[in-house]
Amino acid sequence: MIPIAKPLIGEEEIKEVTEVLKSGMLAQGKEVEAFEREFASYIGVKNAIAVCNGTVALDLALKALKIKSGDEVITTPFTFIASANAILYQGARPIFADIDERTYNLDPEKALEKINPRTKAILVVHLYGQPCDMKAFKEICEDHKLLLIEDCAQAHGAEFEGKKVGGFGDVATFSFYPTKNMTTAEGGMILTNDDEIAKKLRILRDQGQTRKYWHEELGYNYRMTNVAAAIGRVQLKKLEKWNEIRRRNAELLGNGLKKIDGLNPPFVDRRAKHVFHQFVVRIESDQLSREELMKRLKERGIETAVHYPLPVHHQPIYQKLGYPKEICPRAIDAAKRVLSIPVHPALSEEDIAYIVRSLEDVFR
Ligand SMILES: Cc1ncc(COP(=O)(O)O)c(C=O)c1O
Repeated sequence: MIPIAKPLIGEEEIKEVTEVLKSGMLAQGKEVEAFEREFASYIGVKNAIAVCNGTVALDLALKALKIKSGDEVITTPFTFIASANAILYQGARPIFADIDERTYNLDPEKALEKINPRTKAILVVHLYGQPCDMKAFKEICEDHKLLLIEDCAQAHGAEFEGKKVGGFGDVATFSFYPTKNMTTAEGGMILTNDDEIAKKLRILRDQGQTRKYWHEELGYNYRMTNVAAAIGRVQLKKLEKWNEIRRRNAELLGNGLKKIDGLNPPFVDRRAKHVFHQFVVRIESDQLSREELMKRLKERGIETAVHYPLPVHHQPIYQKLGYPKEICPRAIDAAKRVLSIPVHPALSEEDIAYIVRSLEDVFR
């Protein structure tokens, strides 16, 4: 079976983790500090705060920015649910604006239309590894004095106009879940150039303590372990190479799919360096349903997935909150048509050729 994702754990990761285990210093400590320094330097941002997953990274980021009840945050409905839930955690209201149907990312024009006096921030998600139009979002946030938050969970190393994502927002968050472009098993990171926000994030992450057993804030235990950080430090060194392989795989897949009618390969913004967390095709065929295509590929040993089958505002929890179903028609349409095909760096060129051949067969 060719899986849709495959974490790559080598001897180096095993060696580093073993050393941490032998050291007995298991929880947050020197490995975490080193990982933070190295990740901040890789992205080109002053401060990095490691946490235990990408969801709490978003939660803390919004708390540190003082997003609160009564505030509105504009975001995309076409993402993993954690992006929008982080807004609800604060008692604030996610306001969904529609996507650009080519990139599947939040459309700056649509976001602009939603701005009103309650708007505090725009939360962009660099979906599938493709950066959002950060030139437009920077301008909008500057013009309207809004905070800019980047959810980079799917875009480690991606660039917009030569600058890495994670360096544009007031804060940016990453996830290191095993299917991501790099992993720490579970893990997350928050980046910011603002020292005060960084200080606040460190306090909130660790029980609101400013010194031992002195708790000035309602804090949390959102710490990363040294074990996770040891994996992350090794993975970070391999990230660029893996991203290059993802990009090569995407090119081979894209070229192969050109011949197939009814299957549109991903569009890449010329200003962006896409890191292909997912390779997502759009099914335009009337003859073959997505479910049928997935079934036939599975019979041939190829796993595929749908990211995501429902836009966030159609999820039961958001329906209970009263979001109208008909908003964001492009996101609704995308959710019906997208299909993720394996692109990860564990694939060989033969695997890619096999995937292309199988798709040709199925569409014949
Ligand atoms: C866009 C996006 N945001 C947030 C998250 C949450 O990250 P985690 O699973 O590490 O909590 C994920 C991934 O899982 C994601 O894809």
